[in-house]
Amino acid sequence: KIEEKVDSVLALMHLNEKIGQLVQYSGKWNATGPSTSKGDQHKLDKLKKGEVGSMLNITSVASIKETQKIVMEHSRLKIPLIFGYDVIHGYKTIFPIPLGESASWDLDIIKQSASIAAKETAASGLQWTFAPMIDVSRDARWGRIMEGAGEDTYLNTVIGVARIHGFQGDDLSHPNTIAACAKHFAGYGFAEAGRDYNTVNIGEYELHNTILPPFKAAAKAGVATFMNSFNDIDGIPSTGNKVLQRDILKQNWSWNGLVVSDWGSIGEMIAHGYAEDKKHATQIALDAGSDMDMESYAYEANLEALVRENKISIEQIDDAVKRVLRLKFELGLFDDPYKYCNEEREKANIYTDEHLAVARDVAKKSIVLLKNETNLLPITKNLKSIAVIGPLADDKDAPLGNWRAKGEYNSAVSLLEGVKSVVDKNTKVFYEKGVELTIPTVKPGENQFLHPLKFNNTDVSGIKAAVEVAKKAEVVLLAIGENAYQTGEGRSQSEIGFFGVQQKLLEAIYKVNKNVVIVLMNGRPMDISWAANNVPSILECWFLGSESGNAIADVLFGDYNPSGKLPVSFPHNVGQEPLYYNQKNTGRPFSPKHVTYSGYTDTPKSALYPFGFGLSYTTFEYKNLELDKSEILKDGEIKLSVEISNTGTRDGEEVVQLYIRDLVGSLTRPIKELKDFKKVMIKAGETKIVNFTINSEKLQFYTVNKKWEVEPGDFNVWVGGNSEASLKGVFRVVE
Ligand code: IFM
Repeated sequence: KIEEKVDSVLALMHLNEKIGQLVQYSGKWNATGPSTSKGDQHKLDKLKKGEVGSMLNITSVASIKETQKIVMEHSRLKIPLIFGYDVIHGYKTIFPIPLGESASWDLDIIKQSASIAAKETAASGLQWTFAPMIDVSRDARWGRIMEGAGEDTYLNTVIGVARIHGFQGDDLSHPNTIAACAKHFAGYGFAEAGRDYNTVNIGEYELHNTILPPFKAAAKAGVATFMNSFNDIDGIPSTGNKVLQRDILKQNWSWNGLVVSDWGSIGEMIAHGYAEDKKHATQIALDAGSDMDMESYAYEANLEALVRENKISIEQIDDAVKRVLRLKFELGLFDDPYKYCNEEREKANIYTDEHLAVARDVAKKSIVLLKNETNLLPITKNLKSIAVIGPLADDKDAPLGNWRAKGEYNSAVSLLEGVKSVVDKNTKVFYEKGVELTIPTVKPGENQFLHPLKFNNTDVSGIKAAVEVAKKAEVVLLAIGENAYQTGEGRSQSEIGFFGVQQKLLEAIYKVNKNVVIVLMNGRPMDISWAANNVPSILECWFLGSESGNAIADVLFGDYNPSGKLPVSFPHNVGQEPLYYNQKNTGRPFSPKHVTYSGYTDTPKSALYPFGFGLSYTTFEYKNLELDKSEILKDGEIKLSVEISNTGTRDGEEVVQLYIRDLVGSLTRPIKELKDFKKVMIKAGETKIVNFTINSEKLQFYTVNKKWEVEPGDFNVWVGGNSEASLKGVFRVVE
């Protein structure tokens, strides 16, 4: 039915109107009248002519209504605009950054956070988010690692799908759901040396086995849109990559959604040295299947001429336009262009207590206990004194992280506030900042992209006062890590340790009080090796969003038993990057006698804290891994069961992880790969049996035949609480 409607609208359209649907502008539209700037005037003229398909970065019902009205009142065909925005981890109620939220390994809660973000976004008049980012990211130097689900293909796949279901629900036309966007297609997370926008050098097999599966799953899950990526792969910019966008995505995966370019990425093909000028870039991009031009101003200027010159066919234009119209019909915008513009709903549905309660729940589940050597944690609430120290200890802004949409400056619950609200009234809570993290930090209204952060702060004058309070306290909570904007787009770093004088503060505090808990706030895996070798407790708290301080206090004082697991490996030092658990074995995996094997002479080869790792206040023991058979056919199935006992004194949740290795392949295979997991609650003293099914879906890979196949041979399987699990089974696949 929608197809008929799409065709009937298409039949009415002139070429300029069709091209207009493929144009997306950014604009903070001034609802009270057109701006005097030349750029805004151009946008306004185009809107009136019906030559714009979408706007991004306009927020609030009033502004969106005003902009939609321009099209409705002036344009010939009155085709509604679709409004998009980067709602990455919440709209105004801010959830943990995606990397942090992924540490929950809790697909239900991840879906719930996306559905709340969608509800708030839709209530503010918008219909489209540019999320989830499902780029497998293995390099801690890459600032955008904060925006995805980390280093693993399977984890990115299932978390990406959960987020898509959360944003889109079952019905895109429902007023509380919005269109999602699988990005960045493809390979953006593999930027060489972790330098954002850098070239990507991967082969066809790596592309298919590591990078594409989350995107394929997103397409299958019905994600409404895709965004392509800034990088090139093996010499071809993704925006101009026909194999990726036309052959794989649209043809092989039969996906009929809309591909939007990344910001200016069509024009950037000139800088890539792939297009001579914008006209050439337009031809390459449209021909390659990039449907909508975000802010390159390339399609609007060149498509008409390219059609006249027969360099782009009208069928190609129509295909792209249909993808835009289809989405607008699915969202219900043709029935009512102001459908999402309801002021009452806007007031009632954003930043509610109910949403904040979920944000707290998600935040506490995202925390990872990295070290608790002396069982310093959990802390009792009736301590005589506690010192909360550090540049992030009373920071109400940093926990919102980067890409915080409409999260208000300084609106998060700080660690200090969270601690004060939990401890007994007789407990003395000391606070000292100690050192500054960066100078200056991004202030409200400032464009962070025009704002290089400076970390050359050398002021140590505050350390003395911090040391004094540390001396007086029974326990020190030391909140250190990164500035909120230290990760995110364009925030690549060559160092990943504690910037500025934080390390000095840490060592000075530890010298006078050994009961130190590091409360780490950060958007990437960091080099925390000194801390890991010295302080007794480390809690990985990412940037946890609006309810950060409350959630951290829930864990610190034992109201919640931590259950998070790392979605990324933490290195011993930056030189190990990119570091990921599912490496290849190489021809020289290990030699006890020589240096001529694949490792480092100055640092271990393995992670400081491996992928999948996270402690609890209780302990779990894995035993009796059983397989119901030792041999299966390629399309057969093995049932695996394993016993997990909670051997401690507290109830706790454990993420039970299943890893598989294909020992010999037509291509070299990783030493192990995550293929499934289950998060289970186990009571103190209780033993649970967890079952998995191993089938062809878990055994296949993109083989030398350029097909997804199961190859016969021997396999290993491990089950455990992290990627270094040692409880193993073996089986064989036969023809
Ligand atoms: O959605 C983003 C993208 O991830 C990076 N460039 C800008 C886009 C729109 O803001």
